Amino acid sequence: MLGDVAALAKSSVPLLRAYRGGVEPALRERVMVAVSRANACQGCTRVHERWALRSGVTDDELRAIGLADLAALDEHSRAAVVYATERAERRFRAPPSPEVEQVARNHLSPAALEQVDAVARAMALANLSLNTLSAMIAASGRSRRDHPVFARVWELIASRAVAAQDRAELLAGLHGDVIEVGAGTGENFGHYPPAVRLVVAVEPEPRLQRRARQATAHASVPISVVDATAEAIPAADASYDAAVACLVLCSVPAQPVALGELRRVLRPGGELRFYEHVVAHHGCVATLQRALDDSGLWPRVGAGCHLSRDTARAIEEAGFAIEQCRRFLSGPVPHIAGVARRLA
Ligand SMILES: C[S@@+](CC[C@H](N)C(=O)[O-])C[C@H]1O[C@@H](n2cnc3c(N)ncnc32)[C@H](O)[C@@H]1O
Repeated sequence: MLGDVAALAKSSVPLLRAYRGGVEPALRERVMVAVSRANACQGCTRVHERWALRSGVTDDELRAIGLADLAALDEHSRAAVVYATERAERRFRAPPSPEVEQVARNHLSPAALEQVDAVARAMALANLSLNTLSAMIAASGRSRRDHPVFARVWELIASRAVAAQDRAELLAGLHGDVIEVGAGTGENFGHYPPAVRLVVAVEPEPRLQRRARQATAHASVPISVVDATAEAIPAADASYDAAVACLVLCSVPAQPVALGELRRVLRPGGELRFYEHVVAHHGCVATLQRALDDSGLWPRVGAGCHLSRDTARAIEEAGFAIEQCRRFLSGPVPHIAGVARRLA
């Protein structure tokens, strides 16, 4: 890998040129998708397929690259893709076959070919890094619920991730029986108002579950922590007056299922209080959020967290009417906080 980094450093000038008015963006993205596919890197393939479509590459062309049936590509792109794929398959250690190199030279200028080579090399290194990280995580044999590293980090940052005042505001005015999903360390527990009769707090992660059980001692209302997920809440239909979701709808693997469960266990007219980070409306932030999700890297590091979910829309689609919704930035990341009511 060190050798690959050194080789990439040597081709940094043509790589920069490829992004600064050199080879056209669509050609660059076709090459990147082809190399990522050759290296079986699903995260990079997903990200670059999306970027390729934005650069003017067609669905038919992406399908053709996926099937390695390149007739749908123009000659110029076909030559670049075949050249880059063969370079990647030979791990950039051996030159491509003379025929492939000749066809590439017939269709691309020496400068363009040098840039295609640099782009393919950079992509291959990104593929190798992501594939290695995925393999390490898979080899750690962790269960889907067990996120020991994330749990330790969350223990350290939970009190700062949401200000105490925002937690109090989220829960103000609640009464009766409340279900909270993804309770984490139980940071909300001290903020439940006295009119709440009982809180059932769902938390699947073992370490956080233990912390949440300890936190019940500091609450002024009765709280029971249960080992379950938001997608399968162990409760009867219409059995709660209110539900709370605080920075969890980003992490649940199946958001519509979790929201369907929250709706099921709430009585008609019951409230869902939410505080979540969401996708930006426009621009570079949304693009970056989608890229981080599509790469698979962010969800792995963040124990299933997704940055690009449109949670307000998902809440409405699940059968709630949003009555209050404050949208605000925390750092560069948009958040929503508010109240939705279960429609009858
Ligand atoms: C970012 S933490 C937020 C914790 C807490 N709500 C807070 O505000 O401090 C996300 C929490 O959701 C939990 N979680 C992840 N997937 C879940 C699921 N499917 N059902 C319920 N909780 C889940 C995690 O274990 C973690 O405790």
